[in-house]
Amino acid sequence: MRAKERTFVAIKPDGVQRELVGEIIKRFETKGYKITALKMLQVTDEQAKAHYAEHEGKPFYPRLIRYIQSGPVVAMVVEGYNAVAGVRHLMGSTDPDKAEVGTIRADFAEVMEYNVVHGSDSVESAEREIKIYFNENEIYAQRKCMEELVVEYLDAD
Ligand SMILES: Nc1ncnc2c1ncn2[C@@H]1O[C@H](COP(=O)(O)OP(=O)(O)OP(=O)(O)O)[C@@H](O)[C@H]1O
Ligand SMILES: [Mg+2]
Repeated sequence: MRAKERTFVAIKPDGVQRELVGEIIKRFETKGYKITALKMLQVTDEQAKAHYAEHEGKPFYPRLIRYIQSGPVVAMVVEGYNAVAGVRHLMGSTDPDKAEVGTIRADFAEVMEYNVVHGSDSVESAEREIKIYFNENEIYAQRKCMEELVVEYLDAD
């Protein structure tokens, strides 16, 4: 059965610098996913190391760390049915040349090193990565829906 999941998404510094924030968020929202946390931040040394620990020692690792700290990122928690795989599907393959046309990376990125967006690759990674960037009290999963507020307002007098 497909379960509601939450995943960690970051619009990387190139996406922010190229004014693609609205365009990228729109794709997640129009899909039906809920943005339950959102902030712009400068990634610290500790956050960069924790986030990309699995890539330490690889040839592209120093470039990756420099890239993720090269300007502010927009960090998000995205919630929805099968959201971990679904977000990765919307993002496309790591290499924009291999990503399907219509995905974020195929449409907005030119090279693998600078591929505009990050999304967790498993539910476990998502939980680990969310903790690097957010406190639980910054995540707004249980929001009152507008309809409840309207009913409250209409019943008020
Ligand atoms: N072979 C490579 N050469 C250069 N950069 C790479 C290479 N592989 C990965 N990267 C960079 O490191 C990031 C993390 O790599 P990973 O294998 O986790 O890909 P991904 O899961 O598709 O991307 P992300 O984790 O950013 O969502 C990539 O998004 C890319 O920016
Ligand atoms: Mg990854």
